[in-house]
Amino acid sequence: MKILVLNGPNLNMLGVREPDVYGKNTYADLCKMIKDHAKKKNVSITIKQTNCEGKLVTFIQKARNSFDAIVINPAAYTHTSVAILDAAKAVSLPMVEVHISDVTKREDFRQVSFIRSACQKTITGKGFQGYLEAIDYLLENK
Ligand code: DQA
Repeated sequence: MKILVLNGPNLNMLGVREPDVYGKNTYADLCKMIKDHAKKKNVSITIKQTNCEGKLVTFIQKARNSFDAIVINPAAYTHTSVAILDAAKAVSLPMVEVHISDVTKREDFRQVSFIRSACQKTITGKGFQGYLEAIDYLLENK
């Protein structure tokens, strides 16, 4: 199974941005954790991060012919992007939405998720561990 892990804006700033919300570990730590887990589970993983909405759309479109599933943390675009939702619907790959923080306990504007309706599952508030759970879910439900 080939899984694409997509990360949206400001996730490259993990470790620096709001450590009380997102923790002190860095984006490099997150990538290492995901790669180590993938090795253990014998699954092929590609990880991408971009601050651009259109690039996320293109990554999703291109995944159609090269990946079996997507783990996505669209970050702030979760709450605003119809374009990312439409891309997800267009490729109809199994998809899991992940948020590091518990968005259900944060501001009202974070309660909206456009991508959610195209995802099999949402994992929120479990820190970096949420990405590993998302991978496990996709492996168990392929
Ligand atoms: C986030 C939550 C979003 O509301 C926020 O804009 C992010 C990160 C999370 O992982 O908790 O950038 O997706």
